[in-house]
Amino acid sequence: MKLFLDSADIEEIKKVKSWGILEGVTTNPSLIKKAAEKYKVKNLETYIKKLLKVCKTIPVSLEVIGTDYEEMVREGKILHKKFNKISRNVYVKIPINPCLQKSCSMKSDGIQAIQTLHKSKIKINCTLIFTPEQATLAAKAGANYVSPFVGREDDYIREMGRIKFEKNDYFPKEGFKKHKKRLEDKGIISGVNLIEKISTNFKRSKIKTEVLAASIRNQKQLRECETAGADIATVTFKIIEKLISHSKTVEGMKKFTKDIVPEYKKMFK
Ligand code: E4P
Repeated sequence: MKLFLDSADIEEIKKVKSWGILEGVTTNPSLIKKAAEKYKVKNLETYIKKLLKVCKTIPVSLEVIGTDYEEMVREGKILHKKFNKISRNVYVKIPINPCLQKSCSMKSDGIQAIQTLHKSKIKINCTLIFTPEQATLAAKAGANYVSPFVGREDDYIREMGRIKFEKNDYFPKEGFKKHKKRLEDKGIISGVNLIEKISTNFKRSKIKTEVLAASIRNQKQLRECETAGADIATVTFKIIEKLISHSKTVEGMKKFTKDIVPEYKKMFK
Protein backbone atom coordinates (compact mmCIF):
# COMPACT_ATOMS: atom_id res chain seq x y z
CA MET A 1 0.00 0.00 0.00
CA LYS A 2 1.33 3.43 -0.95
CA LEU A 3 1.51 6.14 1.70
CA PHE A 4 0.32 9.67 0.90
CA LEU A 5 0.38 12.73 3.13
CA ASP A 6 -2.95 14.50 3.65
CA SER A 7 -1.62 18.04 3.92
CA ALA A 8 -0.94 21.30 2.10
CA ASP A 9 1.78 22.26 4.56
CA ILE A 10 5.07 22.56 2.62
CA GLU A 11 7.22 22.07 5.72
CA GLU A 12 5.40 18.83 6.61
CA ILE A 13 5.70 17.64 2.99
CA LYS A 14 9.44 18.47 2.90
CA LYS A 15 10.01 16.58 6.16
CA VAL A 16 8.23 13.37 5.14
CA LYS A 17 9.83 13.54 1.69
CA SER A 18 13.29 13.82 3.24
CA TRP A 19 12.60 10.57 5.13
CA GLY A 20 12.22 8.83 1.76
CA ILE A 21 8.74 7.46 2.43
CA LEU A 22 6.41 9.90 0.69
CA GLU A 23 4.55 8.57 -2.35
CA GLY A 24 1.91 11.26 -2.85
CA VAL A 25 0.08 14.25 -1.37
CA THR A 26 -3.63 14.99 -1.07
CA THR A 27 -5.07 18.43 -0.39
CA ASN A 28 -8.54 19.89 -0.07
CA PRO A 29 -9.82 23.46 0.42
CA SER A 30 -9.71 23.08 4.23
CA LEU A 31 -6.06 21.92 4.19
CA ILE A 32 -5.11 24.75 1.81
CA LYS A 33 -6.82 27.24 4.17
CA LYS A 34 -4.87 25.83 7.15
CA ALA A 35 -1.51 26.14 5.35
CA ALA A 36 -2.32 29.58 3.93
CA GLU A 37 -3.14 30.86 7.44
CA LYS A 38 -0.11 29.21 9.05
CA TYR A 39 2.37 30.70 6.54
CA LYS A 40 0.39 33.93 5.98
CA VAL A 41 0.38 33.15 2.26
CA LYS A 42 -0.25 36.20 0.10
CA ASN A 43 -0.18 34.56 -3.31
CA LEU A 44 -1.79 31.12 -3.22
CA GLU A 45 -0.88 30.32 -6.82
CA THR A 46 2.82 30.82 -6.09
CA TYR A 47 2.49 28.74 -2.90
CA ILE A 48 0.88 25.82 -4.75
CA LYS A 49 3.58 25.99 -7.47
CA LYS A 50 6.22 25.79 -4.73
CA LEU A 51 4.40 22.83 -3.15
CA LEU A 52 4.38 21.02 -6.51
CA LYS A 53 8.10 21.65 -7.01
CA VAL A 54 8.81 20.21 -3.57
CA CYS A 55 6.78 17.10 -4.43
CA LYS A 56 8.65 16.66 -7.75
CA THR A 57 7.09 13.70 -9.55
CA ILE A 58 4.89 12.21 -6.80
CA PRO A 59 1.12 12.70 -7.36
CA VAL A 60 -0.54 15.74 -5.80
CA SER A 61 -4.33 16.06 -5.60
CA LEU A 62 -5.86 19.53 -5.93
CA GLU A 63 -9.61 19.94 -5.45
CA VAL A 64 -12.15 21.93 -7.45
CA ILE A 65 -14.52 24.19 -5.52
CA GLY A 66 -17.47 24.29 -7.92
CA THR A 67 -20.54 22.18 -7.34
CA ASP A 68 -22.00 21.85 -10.80
CA TYR A 69 -20.78 20.11 -13.93
CA GLU A 70 -19.73 23.21 -15.93
CA GLU A 71 -17.92 24.79 -13.02
CA MET A 72 -16.06 21.63 -12.03
CA VAL A 73 -14.91 20.99 -15.60
CA ARG A 74 -13.82 24.64 -15.98
CA GLU A 75 -11.93 24.59 -12.68
CA GLY A 76 -10.44 21.14 -13.33
CA LYS A 77 -9.03 22.40 -16.63
CA ILE A 78 -7.67 25.54 -14.94
CA LEU A 79 -5.96 23.52 -12.18
CA HIS A 80 -4.45 21.22 -14.80
CA LYS A 81 -3.29 24.04 -17.08
CA LYS A 82 -1.82 26.21 -14.33
CA PHE A 83 -0.15 23.52 -12.26
CA ASN A 84 0.42 20.28 -14.16
CA LYS A 85 3.24 21.81 -16.22
CA ILE A 86 5.34 22.28 -13.04
CA SER A 87 5.97 18.60 -12.33
CA ARG A 88 3.35 16.70 -14.38
CA ASN A 89 1.92 15.28 -11.16
CA VAL A 90 -1.51 16.92 -10.68
CA TYR A 91 -4.63 14.86 -9.97
CA VAL A 92 -7.83 16.89 -9.99
CA LYS A 93 -10.11 16.04 -7.07
CA ILE A 94 -13.77 15.85 -8.03
CA PRO A 95 -16.55 15.06 -5.53
CA ILE A 96 -18.70 12.18 -6.70
CA ASN A 97 -22.05 13.90 -6.19
CA PRO A 98 -21.71 17.55 -5.39
CA CYS A 99 -24.93 19.09 -6.68
CA LEU A 100 -25.97 21.36 -3.79
CA GLN A 101 -28.52 23.63 -5.48
CA LYS A 102 -32.15 22.93 -4.57
CA SER A 103 -33.11 23.41 -8.20
CA CYS A 104 -30.72 20.71 -9.32
CA SER A 105 -32.74 17.71 -10.42
CA MET A 106 -29.85 15.83 -11.95
CA LYS A 107 -27.36 14.60 -9.39
CA SER A 108 -24.77 13.31 -11.82
CA ASP A 109 -22.56 16.40 -12.10
CA GLY A 110 -19.53 14.78 -10.45
CA ILE A 111 -19.60 11.66 -12.57
CA GLN A 112 -20.08 13.68 -15.77
CA ALA A 113 -17.24 16.02 -14.87
CA ILE A 114 -14.98 13.01 -14.32
CA GLN A 115 -15.84 11.66 -17.76
CA THR A 116 -15.19 15.00 -19.50
CA LEU A 117 -11.90 15.66 -17.71
CA HIS A 118 -10.77 12.07 -18.26
CA LYS A 119 -11.38 12.51 -22.00
CA SER A 120 -9.14 15.60 -21.84
CA LYS A 121 -6.42 13.32 -20.37
CA ILE A 122 -6.60 14.95 -16.93
CA LYS A 123 -5.97 12.60 -14.02
CA ILE A 124 -8.81 12.38 -11.52
CA ASN A 125 -9.09 11.60 -7.82
CA CYS A 126 -12.80 11.12 -7.14
CA THR A 127 -13.47 12.19 -3.57
CA LEU A 128 -16.18 11.90 -0.87
CA ILE A 129 -16.98 8.26 -1.64
CA PHE A 130 -19.33 6.58 0.86
CA THR A 131 -20.66 3.56 -1.05
CA PRO A 132 -19.11 0.80 -3.20
CA GLU A 133 -21.50 1.81 -6.00
CA GLN A 134 -20.22 5.40 -6.05
CA ALA A 135 -16.69 3.99 -6.33
CA THR A 136 -17.56 1.69 -9.22
CA LEU A 137 -19.37 4.45 -11.12
CA ALA A 138 -16.48 6.87 -10.63
CA ALA A 139 -14.07 4.22 -11.90
CA LYS A 140 -16.24 3.51 -14.95
CA ALA A 141 -16.37 7.26 -15.71
CA GLY A 142 -12.56 7.35 -15.76
CA ALA A 143 -11.30 8.20 -12.26
CA ASN A 144 -7.70 7.16 -11.59
CA TYR A 145 -8.23 7.15 -7.82
CA VAL A 146 -11.39 6.80 -5.73
CA SER A 147 -11.24 8.19 -2.19
CA PRO A 148 -13.59 6.52 0.31
CA PHE A 149 -13.75 8.48 3.59
CA VAL A 150 -13.08 5.87 6.24
CA GLY A 151 -13.29 8.00 9.40
CA ARG A 152 -16.32 9.97 8.27
CA GLU A 153 -18.14 6.71 7.47
CA ASP A 154 -17.43 5.58 11.04
CA ASP A 155 -18.65 8.98 12.32
CA TYR A 156 -21.88 8.54 10.37
CA ILE A 157 -22.52 5.05 11.74
CA ARG A 158 -21.72 6.15 15.30
CA GLU A 159 -23.95 9.20 15.00
CA MET A 160 -26.80 6.98 13.76
CA GLY A 161 -26.39 4.85 16.89
CA ARG A 162 -26.08 7.96 19.10
CA ILE A 163 -22.68 6.80 20.31
CA LYS A 164 -20.44 9.41 21.91
CA PHE A 165 -16.95 9.58 20.41
CA GLU A 166 -13.90 11.74 19.85
CA LYS A 167 -12.71 12.33 16.28
CA ASN A 168 -9.64 10.10 16.54
CA ASP A 169 -11.26 7.25 18.50
CA TYR A 170 -10.89 3.79 16.99
CA PHE A 171 -14.07 2.22 15.61
CA PRO A 172 -14.02 -1.58 15.09
CA LYS A 173 -13.83 -2.73 11.48
CA GLU A 174 -16.38 -5.46 12.27
CA GLY A 175 -18.86 -2.78 13.34
CA PHE A 176 -20.69 -2.18 16.58
CA LYS A 177 -23.81 -3.73 18.11
CA LYS A 178 -26.32 -1.60 20.01
CA HIS A 179 -29.21 -3.39 21.70
CA LYS A 180 -28.06 -6.59 19.91
CA LYS A 181 -28.45 -4.91 16.51
CA ARG A 182 -25.41 -4.12 14.38
CA LEU A 183 -25.30 -0.49 13.29
CA GLU A 184 -24.98 -0.06 9.54
CA ASP A 185 -25.14 2.41 6.68
CA LYS A 186 -27.10 0.44 4.08
CA GLY A 187 -25.00 -2.68 4.64
CA ILE A 188 -21.71 -0.93 5.38
CA ILE A 189 -20.71 -1.59 8.98
CA SER A 190 -17.52 0.51 9.20
CA GLY A 191 -15.18 2.67 7.15
CA VAL A 192 -12.73 -0.23 6.80
CA ASN A 193 -15.61 -2.45 5.65
CA LEU A 194 -16.26 0.15 2.91
CA ILE A 195 -12.62 -0.13 1.77
CA GLU A 196 -12.84 -3.92 1.81
CA LYS A 197 -15.98 -4.00 -0.32
CA ILE A 198 -14.63 -1.53 -2.90
CA SER A 199 -11.25 -3.28 -3.15
CA THR A 200 -12.89 -6.71 -3.54
CA ASN A 201 -15.24 -5.42 -6.26
CA PHE A 202 -12.40 -3.74 -8.15
CA LYS A 203 -10.26 -6.87 -8.03
CA ARG A 204 -13.12 -9.09 -9.15
CA SER A 205 -14.06 -6.78 -12.02
CA LYS A 206 -10.40 -6.12 -12.90
CA ILE A 207 -10.90 -2.37 -12.47
CA LYS A 208 -7.56 -0.57 -12.63
CA THR A 209 -8.64 2.50 -10.60
CA GLU A 210 -6.74 2.68 -7.32
CA VAL A 211 -8.54 2.71 -3.97
CA LEU A 212 -7.23 5.62 -1.89
CA ALA A 213 -8.33 5.30 1.74
CA ALA A 214 -8.92 8.84 3.07
CA SER A 215 -10.14 10.34 6.35
CA ILE A 216 -8.00 7.94 8.37
CA ARG A 217 -7.98 8.83 12.05
CA ASN A 218 -5.52 6.45 13.74
CA GLN A 219 -2.78 3.85 13.25
CA LYS A 220 -5.01 0.81 13.78
CA GLN A 221 -7.45 2.01 11.13
CA LEU A 222 -4.56 2.57 8.71
CA ARG A 223 -3.29 -0.97 9.27
CA GLU A 224 -6.78 -2.38 8.72
CA CYS A 225 -7.17 -0.40 5.47
CA GLU A 226 -4.06 -2.11 4.10
CA THR A 227 -5.36 -5.56 5.04
CA ALA A 228 -8.73 -4.64 3.52
CA GLY A 229 -7.01 -4.09 0.17
CA ALA A 230 -6.48 -0.32 -0.16
CA ASP A 231 -3.87 0.57 -2.80
CA ILE A 232 -3.09 3.90 -1.15
CA ALA A 233 -3.75 5.53 2.22
CA THR A 234 -3.53 9.25 2.87
CA VAL A 235 -2.77 10.28 6.43
CA THR A 236 -1.93 13.38 8.43
CA PHE A 237 1.59 14.29 9.54
CA LYS A 238 0.62 13.47 13.14
CA ILE A 239 -0.32 9.90 12.20
CA ILE A 240 2.93 9.41 10.25
CA GLU A 241 4.94 10.53 13.29
CA LYS A 242 3.05 8.03 15.47
CA LEU A 243 3.81 5.20 13.01
CA ILE A 244 7.52 5.54 13.66
CA SER A 245 7.51 5.42 17.45
CA HIS A 246 7.09 2.57 19.94
CA SER A 247 8.13 2.59 23.60
CA LYS A 248 9.74 -0.87 23.29
CA THR A 249 11.94 0.39 20.41
CA VAL A 250 13.30 3.14 22.68
CA GLU A 251 13.72 0.67 25.54
CA GLY A 252 15.56 -1.75 23.23
CA MET A 253 17.90 0.97 21.95
CA LYS A 254 18.76 1.98 25.51
CA LYS A 255 19.60 -1.63 26.43
CA PHE A 256 21.74 -2.20 23.30
CA THR A 257 23.61 1.08 23.92
CA LYS A 258 24.29 0.05 27.52
CA ASP A 259 25.65 -3.34 26.47
CA ILE A 260 28.26 -2.10 23.95
CA VAL A 261 31.66 -3.56 24.89
CA PRO A 262 34.82 -1.42 24.23
CA GLU A 263 36.08 -3.86 21.52
CA TYR A 264 32.85 -3.42 19.57
CA LYS A 265 33.14 0.37 19.85
CA LYS A 266 36.78 0.23 18.66
CA MET A 267 35.72 -1.23 15.30
CA PHE A 268 34.04 2.03 14.34
CA LYS A 269 37.09 4.23 14.89
C1 E4P B 1 -9.09 13.47 2.05
O1 E4P B 1 -8.84 13.85 0.96
C2 E4P B 1 -9.59 14.34 3.07
O2 E4P B 1 -8.85 15.50 2.89
C3 E4P B 1 -9.36 13.92 4.49
O3 E4P B 1 -8.76 12.64 4.55
C4 E4P B 1 -10.56 14.08 5.34
O4 E4P B 1 -10.25 13.72 6.65
P1 E4P B 1 -11.20 14.06 7.89
O5 E4P B 1 -12.47 13.30 7.72
O6 E4P B 1 -10.43 13.59 9.08
O7 E4P B 1 -11.42 15.53 7.87
